[in-house]
Amino acid sequence: MKENKKVQWPESIRKKWAEARIEDKYPVWSQIDISAIKFNISQLKTLIPSRTKVMAVVKADAYGHGSVKVAEEIEDCVECFGVGRAYEAIDLREHGISSPILVFGYTSPSFTDVLTGYELTQTVHDYKMAKEFSEAAVKQNKKLKVHIKLDTGMGRLGIFLHNITEPGRFKEYFLKAVSEVERIASLPGLNVEGIYTHFAIADSLDFDYAGKQLVIFSDFLHELEKKSVVFSIKHCAGTSALLSFPDSCMDMVRPGKLIYGILPECCQKAKISLKQALSVKSSVIYLKNVPKGTRISYSSSYFTGKDTVIATIPVGFADGLVWESIPTGCVLIKGQRAPIIGRVCMDLIMVEAGHIEGIRVGDEVVIVGGQGNEFVSLNEMAAHSKTIPTNISTFLTVRTRKIYV
Ligand SMILES: Cc1ncc(COP(=O)(O)O)c(C=O)c1O
Repeated sequence: MKENKKVQWPESIRKKWAEARIEDKYPVWSQIDISAIKFNISQLKTLIPSRTKVMAVVKADAYGHGSVKVAEEIEDCVECFGVGRAYEAIDLREHGISSPILVFGYTSPSFTDVLTGYELTQTVHDYKMAKEFSEAAVKQNKKLKVHIKLDTGMGRLGIFLHNITEPGRFKEYFLKAVSEVERIASLPGLNVEGIYTHFAIADSLDFDYAGKQLVIFSDFLHELEKKSVVFSIKHCAGTSALLSFPDSCMDMVRPGKLIYGILPECCQKAKISLKQALSVKSSVIYLKNVPKGTRISYSSSYFTGKDTVIATIPVGFADGLVWESIPTGCVLIKGQRAPIIGRVCMDLIMVEAGHIEGIRVGDEVVIVGGQGNEFVSLNEMAAHSKTIPTNISTFLTVRTRKIYV
């Protein structure tokens, strides 16, 4: 068997590597503009009533922007944070974030003490889950802060109170849900602070369906009020809803995309100007002059149509670029667009750069973001890759190191 010897690598070399700039030692990096995020929040505040709280959604590592750093920087600008999972909330607490944090997703009631200990707010998706949390909290002589989730049409999590295909049974679901919420509200181990729902609006806005969800949610709250069941924070709006339905702002809004400067396709006409906070950059590592008819990348997926220059860029699908056999997007070099050609490889792409005068190895390459007068938005890249912008922002930042500016 091989002896397990720990080698002492030269200290000067380790230090040199440790201290080198991220952009020098990593071939592709993300640059996150904190002032853009703050600007977007200030823009948001011009649109919502002054009494409406802002919950910044920082799940999935703040959509790839780095949840701890983002939360630290904007803690004074927002009232609270929303995350998908308990461990994301705990990570924020361990890094000193003290604002309220709501966990949207499931947490096992066996962690009730962890949730109360870290002063987290948990979503409860039905009576069974709520009861288990309550019982655990009572045993510990504590109260767990919770928000109740209602399913008004997303078909995901929450108490089901609407089935669009069975309009005849609407009242039955509705009244059953009212009684379920009443029972949750009276559980002794819970402090039920809020109630919420989530719209099924994706990038294309189905105004009609979203409008119905809003009406159902409002009617439901009204019904509860009639029974004197009231909650201090009623909320439903993420980015698309708050931009499209001012009435959806209620006591709190829960924007994610908006704060990172991603305007959903369905809201392009909204009266808000946002700044994309994320740029992903790399540099040219290889250049070659090639004749017309040269095959490029795996499966010879591209043939040059003329004599040209091919630049190789060290970013690939393992860095979060979407794998494509025939990419249609481009990168920016010297402020000009250079089309990606041939299959996207694991660590590399090739771009056509015959038109870029004076291009050199080492030139900065912008994968998303701006350079000179050109800009590649997350929306544009998503459209080329047949996906959505948040899929790009979350994936492109997993392997890349982050620089905050
Ligand atoms: C429950 C919940 N609220 C709010 C948001 C934020 O949505 P958006 O990024 O569209 O603003 C999300 C994200 O998916 C979510 O799951």
